[in-house]
Amino acid sequence: MTDTWLGLEGKVAIVTGGASGIGLHISKELVSNGAIVVVSDLKVEEGKQADGTYHIQCDVTNKESVEKMIARTVELFNTVDILVNNAGVNLPRLLVDYQGVKPEYELSEKDFDFMVAVNQKGPYLCAQASVREMLKKKKGVIINIASEAGVEGSAGQSCYSATKGAVIGFTRSWAKELGKFNIRVVGVAPGINEKTGLTTDSYNEALAYTRGVTVDDLGTDYSKSIPLGRVGKLEEIGNLVSYLASDRASYVTGTTYNVTGGKSRG
Ligand SMILES: NC(=O)c1ccc[n+]([C@@H]2O[C@H](COP(=O)([O-])OP(=O)(O)OC[C@H]3O[C@@H](n4cnc5c(N)ncnc54)[C@H](O)[C@@H]3O)[C@@H](O)[C@H]2O)c1
Repeated sequence: MTDTWLGLEGKVAIVTGGASGIGLHISKELVSNGAIVVVSDLKVEEGKQADGTYHIQCDVTNKESVEKMIARTVELFNTVDILVNNAGVNLPRLLVDYQGVKPEYELSEKDFDFMVAVNQKGPYLCAQASVREMLKKKKGVIINIASEAGVEGSAGQSCYSATKGAVIGFTRSWAKELGKFNIRVVGVAPGINEKTGLTTDSYNEALAYTRGVTVDDLGTDYSKSIPLGRVGKLEEIGNLVSYLASDRASYVTGTTYNVTGGKSRG
């Protein structure tokens, strides 16, 4: 068999939160490039799926659950070549509910702990357990799904944005620690995209409140805010991740790529 340009055939990739949205599309792209893809997500049953992925249940906030998921992956597929830290949650919350109408949209300790646990602790636990495997053969790639909000900040999403900023900090730091072992660490920061499980009606309602507008006023005209004039397709994120996971990106580490159609501020 002739290798494809990316050469991902037979590589073992774990995609956390791969049962929905962006993670689902990252998994699809990796499968279509020949990788063995383990989807680790909260509510999945273990086993081979019709789409070619293999599901292993895991809660990324729980060390024991993460270690079990990695051990099972190694038992089944011998190694971990690629980890995509994609599982993430976002509750739009104001620092202070200055309108005084919906106190539930003011950032509580519970909301803070929830977002930090999934978005920041999750990537740490998954990377730690995966790198123990990658060190055995001195090769591996970790891709952290951050967000444009983690680079630029976002009104009504300060806690989410801070967790994504943390992920960008992990990316830079782990790249510095692990470069000598031929383990690359790269961030991917999506902007505004096709609808996913994260962009629900309740998400839009909370976001609208935190910005002092109605849900309708959140708007869908991106001709001014996004230079390419449209939202991102989920497969476009999957394509970038596939490239970065491959040896074609062998000199790329410690940096975070925007995939935002050119959107930056706002
Ligand atoms: N949707 C966007 O526009 C957008 C923009 C920028 C960044 N992101 C980031 O992309 C990633 C994927 O988001 P999405 O929009 O596809 O969301 P999504 O809700 O569609 O998918 C997230 C997945 O993560 C899983 N998950 C949640 N908590 C988990 C846990 N504790 N353990 C294991 N799995 C868990 C969920 O079950 C779900 O399948 C997130 O990190 C998000 O912050 C999304």
